[in-house]
Amino acid sequence: MTATTRIVSIDHQDWHAAPALPGPASAIAELEEGKVLYFPHLRFDLSAAEIRLLDPALVDPKRKNISLNATTGKLTGVAVEDQRRDAIGALVRRYYETTRGFLEQLLPEYAGRLHAPTTSLRLHRIGTWKMSWRKDDTRLHVDAFPSRPVGDQRIVRVFNNINPHGDTRRWRVGESFDTLAARYLPQLPPYRPGVAWLLDKLHITKSRRSAYDHFMLQLHDRMKADAGYQRDGEQESIEFPPGSTWICFSDQTPHAAMTGQFMLEQTYLLPVSAMAHPERSPQRVLARQAAAAH
Ligand SMILES: [Fe+2]
Repeated sequence: MTATTRIVSIDHQDWHAAPALPGPASAIAELEEGKVLYFPHLRFDLSAAEIRLLDPALVDPKRKNISLNATTGKLTGVAVEDQRRDAIGALVRRYYETTRGFLEQLLPEYAGRLHAPTTSLRLHRIGTWKMSWRKDDTRLHVDAFPSRPVGDQRIVRVFNNINPHGDTRRWRVGESFDTLAARYLPQLPPYRPGVAWLLDKLHITKSRRSAYDHFMLQLHDRMKADAGYQRDGEQESIEFPPGSTWICFSDQTPHAAMTGQFMLEQTYLLPVSAMAHPERSPQRVLARQAAAAH
């Protein structure tokens, strides 16, 4: 356990109103510091019919989760073609709309700048989906996508535990990004623009991988492969009960999802330039530390 927690608990129940924070800091300040905003009583209600959709058999076996691109309306990862597919689509879309409205209340400073929304319905119990160590999210990591370079964009995520049986979702939350970067940056191999160009040309990545994307992927992998860090690194454990919501910059806040089943998650990208304090972004922290090392 850490002496000072990086979880900010906020007693708030209304998706349509701005919450009052417990201390003097604002939501945007806490988030940009890499804290997790935790709303123990911000429930996302499901109807009885929707609860019956909480079945891992409804996920395409080739995919980990069901997801919605709200911009195009494309729903992927549903294994059935009957009316349950429409019902799942409606549920996921309602979560997107609900969280979008809430973020407008919570983070008015980011108005019009949050973009590329993707919504995910996660039905598998953590630990039952077979994967390589690199994809094993029970290891502390920061989010970095191998095929989707983010460049100068941040990753904001809104999670909700919708488990109808009382199962909590347990996370570990790690140290500040500055400390994390200082720990690993000296070990990371240099960025090679030629490789990024080739991956882009071969359509392995959806756009050109920047130096930032390169270092974040390397950092993600080094953290997960480091058994000593996983065991002894600065961290705290938290249980998110059903009916709770939590929000963080998942590219900045080291996290590991240990146990749980049934979750909704909303992702947005945000340009670094839209932040109140761009200098706290992983992009700027890594650039600063890399420059100081030379
Ligand atoms: Fe993650």
